[in-house]
Amino acid sequence: MDSFVTMVEIDRAAQFIKGKIKKLPKVGLVLGSGLGGLADKVEDAVVIPYGEIPEWPESTIQGHVGRLVIGNLFGVTCLVMQGRIHYYEGYTMDRVTFPIRVMQRLGISTVILTNAAGGLNPDFNPGDVMLITDHINIIGMGGMNPLRGPNLSEFGERFPDMSQAYDRSLLTLARNVAKDQSVDLKEGVYICLAGPSFETPADLRYLRLIGGDAVGMSTVPETIIARHGGTRVLAFSGISNKANLDGSTVTTHEEVLEAGRIIVPKLTTVIRGVLELLSD
Ligand code: HPA
Repeated sequence: MDSFVTMVEIDRAAQFIKGKIKKLPKVGLVLGSGLGGLADKVEDAVVIPYGEIPEWPESTIQGHVGRLVIGNLFGVTCLVMQGRIHYYEGYTMDRVTFPIRVMQRLGISTVILTNAAGGLNPDFNPGDVMLITDHINIIGMGGMNPLRGPNLSEFGERFPDMSQAYDRSLLTLARNVAKDQSVDLKEGVYICLAGPSFETPADLRYLRLIGGDAVGMSTVPETIIARHGGTRVLAFSGISNKANLDGSTVTTHEEVLEAGRIIVPKLTTVIRGVLELLSD
Protein backbone atom coordinates (compact mmCIF):
# COMPACT_ATOMS: atom_id res chain seq x y z
CA MET A 1 0.00 0.00 0.00
CA ASP A 2 1.12 3.63 -0.61
CA SER A 3 2.24 5.64 2.42
CA PHE A 4 -0.69 7.77 3.51
CA VAL A 5 -0.86 10.73 5.89
CA THR A 6 -1.12 9.61 9.53
CA MET A 7 -2.66 11.15 12.65
CA VAL A 8 0.86 11.47 14.08
CA GLU A 9 1.92 13.71 11.17
CA ILE A 10 -1.26 15.79 11.35
CA ASP A 11 -0.88 16.28 15.10
CA ARG A 12 2.79 17.18 14.81
CA ALA A 13 1.87 20.10 12.53
CA ALA A 14 -1.13 21.08 14.67
CA GLN A 15 0.95 21.11 17.88
CA PHE A 16 3.63 23.26 16.23
CA ILE A 17 1.03 25.85 15.16
CA LYS A 18 -0.65 25.76 18.60
CA GLY A 19 2.69 26.60 20.17
CA LYS A 20 2.94 29.83 18.11
CA ILE A 21 -0.53 31.33 18.70
CA LYS A 22 -2.46 32.68 21.66
CA LYS A 23 -6.00 32.10 20.42
CA LEU A 24 -7.25 29.11 18.42
CA PRO A 25 -8.72 30.03 15.02
CA LYS A 26 -12.42 29.45 14.31
CA VAL A 27 -12.34 29.82 10.53
CA GLY A 28 -9.82 28.63 7.94
CA LEU A 29 -9.41 30.66 4.76
CA VAL A 30 -7.55 29.33 1.72
CA LEU A 31 -6.44 31.99 -0.78
CA GLY A 32 -5.96 30.85 -4.36
CA SER A 33 -3.83 32.08 -7.27
CA GLY A 34 -3.56 35.88 -7.34
CA LEU A 35 -5.88 36.21 -4.31
CA GLY A 36 -3.30 36.27 -1.51
CA GLY A 37 -3.84 40.01 -0.90
CA LEU A 38 -6.70 39.35 1.50
CA ALA A 39 -4.15 38.14 4.07
CA ASP A 40 -2.94 41.77 4.46
CA LYS A 41 -6.18 42.54 6.30
CA VAL A 42 -5.38 40.17 9.19
CA GLU A 43 -4.71 42.07 12.43
CA ASP A 44 -2.29 40.98 15.18
CA ALA A 45 -1.01 38.41 12.72
CA VAL A 46 1.27 35.51 13.53
CA VAL A 47 2.99 34.57 10.25
CA ILE A 48 4.41 31.07 9.77
CA PRO A 49 6.15 30.12 6.48
CA TYR A 50 5.03 26.67 5.33
CA GLY A 51 8.64 25.49 5.35
CA GLU A 52 8.80 25.85 9.16
CA ILE A 53 5.79 23.64 9.89
CA PRO A 54 6.60 19.96 10.37
CA GLU A 55 5.11 17.72 7.64
CA TRP A 56 3.47 20.68 5.83
CA PRO A 57 3.71 20.52 2.01
CA GLU A 58 5.23 23.58 0.33
CA SER A 59 3.72 25.38 -2.66
CA THR A 60 6.09 25.81 -5.57
CA ILE A 61 4.32 28.20 -7.94
CA GLN A 62 4.26 31.92 -8.67
CA GLY A 63 1.31 33.76 -7.13
CA HIS A 64 1.30 31.53 -4.04
CA VAL A 65 3.31 33.06 -1.20
CA GLY A 66 3.38 29.92 0.93
CA ARG A 67 2.67 30.95 4.51
CA LEU A 68 0.06 30.87 7.24
CA VAL A 69 -1.26 34.18 8.56
CA ILE A 70 -3.18 33.67 11.80
CA GLY A 71 -5.03 36.48 13.56
CA ASN A 72 -8.15 38.62 13.63
CA LEU A 73 -9.90 39.06 10.30
CA PHE A 74 -13.03 41.21 10.45
CA GLY A 75 -13.77 40.15 14.03
CA VAL A 76 -13.06 36.42 13.70
CA THR A 77 -9.85 34.58 14.59
CA CYS A 78 -8.83 33.09 11.26
CA LEU A 79 -6.09 30.87 9.96
CA VAL A 80 -5.33 32.13 6.48
CA MET A 81 -3.39 30.04 3.97
CA GLN A 82 -1.65 32.46 1.66
CA GLY A 83 -1.14 30.02 -1.18
CA ARG A 84 -2.15 26.38 -1.44
CA ILE A 85 -0.71 23.13 -2.71
CA HIS A 86 -1.96 21.47 -5.89
CA TYR A 87 -1.97 17.89 -7.10
CA TYR A 88 -0.04 18.88 -10.25
CA GLU A 89 2.94 19.98 -8.15
CA GLY A 90 3.56 16.31 -7.49
CA TYR A 91 1.93 15.74 -4.10
CA THR A 92 -0.54 12.94 -3.50
CA MET A 93 -4.11 13.98 -2.77
CA ASP A 94 -3.84 13.32 0.96
CA ARG A 95 -0.77 15.62 1.12
CA VAL A 96 -2.61 18.29 -0.92
CA THR A 97 -5.38 18.26 1.70
CA PHE A 98 -3.11 17.88 4.74
CA PRO A 99 -3.67 21.55 5.76
CA ILE A 100 -7.43 20.94 6.08
CA ARG A 101 -6.75 18.02 8.44
CA VAL A 102 -4.52 20.25 10.55
CA MET A 103 -7.25 22.91 10.64
CA GLN A 104 -9.70 20.28 11.88
CA ARG A 105 -7.31 19.26 14.69
CA LEU A 106 -7.01 22.95 15.65
CA GLY A 107 -10.79 23.00 16.12
CA ILE A 108 -11.68 24.98 13.00
CA SER A 109 -15.36 24.37 12.18
CA THR A 110 -15.74 26.43 9.00
CA VAL A 111 -13.49 26.83 5.96
CA ILE A 112 -13.74 29.44 3.23
CA LEU A 113 -12.01 28.23 0.05
CA THR A 114 -11.11 30.49 -2.88
CA ASN A 115 -9.60 29.79 -6.27
CA ALA A 116 -8.93 31.28 -9.66
CA ALA A 117 -10.95 29.57 -12.37
CA GLY A 118 -11.80 29.67 -16.03
CA GLY A 119 -15.38 30.72 -16.78
CA LEU A 120 -17.34 28.10 -18.74
CA ASN A 121 -20.70 29.82 -18.35
CA PRO A 122 -20.99 32.23 -21.30
CA ASP A 123 -22.49 34.87 -18.99
CA PHE A 124 -19.29 35.03 -16.91
CA ASN A 125 -16.47 37.51 -17.56
CA PRO A 126 -12.94 37.89 -16.19
CA GLY A 127 -13.15 39.67 -12.85
CA ASP A 128 -16.47 38.03 -11.85
CA VAL A 129 -16.80 36.20 -8.54
CA MET A 130 -18.77 32.92 -8.46
CA LEU A 131 -20.24 31.33 -5.36
CA ILE A 132 -19.66 27.57 -5.68
CA THR A 133 -23.00 25.82 -5.13
CA ASP A 134 -21.80 22.33 -6.11
CA HIS A 135 -18.90 20.61 -7.82
CA ILE A 136 -18.03 17.93 -10.36
CA ASN A 137 -15.04 15.96 -9.14
CA ILE A 138 -13.58 14.77 -12.43
CA ILE A 139 -10.16 14.22 -10.89
CA GLY A 140 -11.78 12.13 -8.13
CA MET A 141 -13.79 10.10 -10.64
CA GLY A 142 -10.46 9.22 -12.20
CA GLY A 143 -9.34 7.74 -8.85
CA MET A 144 -7.61 10.71 -7.19
CA ASN A 145 -9.96 11.09 -4.25
CA PRO A 146 -8.21 12.51 -1.16
CA LEU A 147 -9.96 9.92 1.01
CA ARG A 148 -8.28 7.02 -0.79
CA GLY A 149 -6.36 4.92 1.73
CA PRO A 150 -7.12 3.94 5.31
CA ASN A 151 -10.11 5.82 6.73
CA LEU A 152 -9.07 8.21 9.49
CA SER A 153 -12.05 7.44 11.73
CA GLU A 154 -11.07 10.22 14.18
CA PHE A 155 -12.49 12.57 11.52
CA GLY A 156 -15.35 10.71 9.89
CA GLU A 157 -16.84 7.66 8.24
CA ARG A 158 -15.59 5.63 5.26
CA PHE A 159 -18.29 6.73 2.83
CA PRO A 160 -19.15 10.36 3.60
CA ASP A 161 -22.22 12.04 2.14
CA MET A 162 -21.60 14.83 -0.42
CA SER A 163 -25.22 15.81 -1.13
CA GLN A 164 -24.64 19.20 0.53
CA ALA A 165 -20.92 19.73 0.11
CA TYR A 166 -21.33 23.52 0.20
CA ASP A 167 -23.15 24.54 3.37
CA ARG A 168 -26.63 25.84 2.69
CA SER A 169 -26.74 28.34 5.52
CA LEU A 170 -23.35 29.78 4.48
CA LEU A 171 -24.57 30.04 0.87
CA THR A 172 -27.55 32.05 2.12
CA LEU A 173 -25.28 34.28 4.23
CA ALA A 174 -23.01 34.99 1.24
CA ARG A 175 -25.96 35.75 -1.05
CA ASN A 176 -27.43 38.16 1.52
CA VAL A 177 -24.12 39.95 2.03
CA ALA A 178 -23.59 40.32 -1.74
CA LYS A 179 -27.09 41.77 -2.12
CA ASP A 180 -26.63 44.23 0.77
CA GLN A 181 -23.23 45.34 -0.56
CA SER A 182 -24.35 45.49 -4.23
CA VAL A 183 -21.74 42.93 -5.29
CA ASP A 184 -22.72 41.05 -8.46
CA LEU A 185 -22.14 37.52 -7.15
CA LYS A 186 -22.50 34.79 -9.77
CA GLU A 187 -23.33 31.20 -8.78
CA GLY A 188 -22.52 27.85 -10.27
CA VAL A 189 -20.88 24.45 -10.44
CA TYR A 190 -17.08 24.18 -10.23
CA ILE A 191 -15.23 21.39 -12.04
CA CYS A 192 -11.86 20.23 -10.73
CA LEU A 193 -9.25 18.90 -13.15
CA ALA A 194 -5.69 17.80 -12.38
CA GLY A 195 -3.84 20.37 -14.51
CA PRO A 196 -1.30 21.85 -14.96
CA SER A 197 -2.01 22.18 -18.70
CA PHE A 198 -5.04 24.30 -19.50
CA GLU A 199 -7.93 22.73 -21.41
CA THR A 200 -8.33 22.25 -25.14
CA PRO A 201 -11.40 23.79 -26.79
CA ALA A 202 -12.91 20.28 -27.01
CA ASP A 203 -12.25 19.72 -23.26
CA LEU A 204 -14.04 22.99 -22.53
CA ARG A 205 -17.06 22.21 -24.69
CA TYR A 206 -17.35 18.87 -22.87
CA LEU A 207 -17.06 20.49 -19.42
CA ARG A 208 -19.81 22.97 -20.28
CA LEU A 209 -22.00 20.18 -21.66
CA ILE A 210 -21.81 18.18 -18.42
CA GLY A 211 -22.94 21.17 -16.35
CA GLY A 212 -19.85 23.14 -15.35
CA ASP A 213 -19.86 26.91 -14.88
CA ALA A 214 -16.18 27.27 -13.91
CA VAL A 215 -13.09 25.08 -14.20
CA GLY A 216 -9.93 24.94 -12.13
CA MET A 217 -7.31 22.76 -10.49
CA SER A 218 -8.08 22.91 -6.78
CA THR A 219 -10.68 23.30 -4.00
CA VAL A 220 -12.68 20.08 -4.54
CA PRO A 221 -10.19 17.81 -2.71
CA GLU A 222 -10.18 20.30 0.19
CA THR A 223 -13.98 20.36 0.26
CA ILE A 224 -14.13 16.55 0.44
CA ILE A 225 -11.68 16.37 3.34
CA ALA A 226 -13.50 19.22 5.10
CA ARG A 227 -16.88 17.47 4.77
CA HIS A 228 -15.42 14.12 5.83
CA GLY A 229 -14.42 15.77 9.10
CA GLY A 230 -17.71 17.66 9.56
CA THR A 231 -16.24 21.07 8.68
CA ARG A 232 -18.61 23.50 6.95
CA VAL A 233 -17.50 24.81 3.53
CA LEU A 234 -18.10 28.10 1.76
CA ALA A 235 -16.24 28.49 -1.56
CA PHE A 236 -15.71 31.10 -4.25
CA SER A 237 -14.16 31.09 -7.71
CA GLY A 238 -12.61 34.26 -9.05
CA ILE A 239 -13.15 34.11 -12.80
CA SER A 240 -9.78 34.96 -14.29
CA ASN A 241 -10.42 34.12 -17.93
CA LYS A 242 -13.21 33.11 -20.23
CA ALA A 243 -13.10 29.52 -21.44
CA ASN A 244 -11.89 29.47 -24.96
CA LEU A 245 -14.49 27.15 -26.45
CA ASP A 246 -13.58 27.87 -30.08
CA GLY A 247 -9.80 28.01 -29.74
CA SER A 248 -9.54 31.68 -30.71
CA THR A 249 -7.58 32.90 -27.64
CA VAL A 250 -4.90 31.51 -25.31
CA THR A 251 -5.01 31.21 -21.51
CA THR A 252 -1.94 32.21 -19.48
CA HIS A 253 -0.97 32.12 -15.79
CA GLU A 254 -0.21 35.88 -16.02
CA GLU A 255 -3.80 36.65 -16.96
CA VAL A 256 -4.95 34.53 -13.99
CA LEU A 257 -2.79 36.62 -11.63
CA GLU A 258 -3.85 39.91 -13.26
CA ALA A 259 -7.58 39.18 -12.82
CA GLY A 260 -6.92 38.68 -9.11
CA ARG A 261 -6.44 42.43 -8.76
CA ILE A 262 -10.06 43.02 -9.81
CA ILE A 263 -11.42 40.03 -7.92
CA VAL A 264 -9.77 40.63 -4.52
CA PRO A 265 -11.79 43.78 -3.60
CA LYS A 266 -15.13 42.06 -4.43
CA LEU A 267 -14.16 38.88 -2.67
CA THR A 268 -12.99 40.89 0.33
CA THR A 269 -16.38 42.64 0.56
CA VAL A 270 -18.30 39.35 0.58
CA ILE A 271 -15.92 37.52 2.94
CA ARG A 272 -15.85 40.50 5.27
CA GLY A 273 -19.66 40.50 5.47
CA VAL A 274 -19.79 36.76 6.11
CA LEU A 275 -17.09 36.89 8.81
CA GLU A 276 -18.79 39.82 10.54
CA LEU A 277 -21.94 37.70 10.75
CA LEU A 278 -19.95 34.73 12.09
CA SER A 279 -18.14 36.79 14.76
CA ASP A 280 -19.27 36.53 18.38
N1 HPA B 1 -8.61 26.39 -16.59
C1 HPA B 1 -8.20 25.71 -15.49
N2 HPA B 1 -7.77 26.30 -14.39
C2 HPA B 1 -7.77 27.64 -14.37
C3 HPA B 1 -8.18 28.40 -15.47
C4 HPA B 1 -8.63 27.75 -16.64
O1 HPA B 1 -9.01 28.36 -17.64
N3 HPA B 1 -8.06 29.71 -15.11
C5 HPA B 1 -7.59 29.71 -13.83
N4 HPA B 1 -7.41 28.47 -13.38
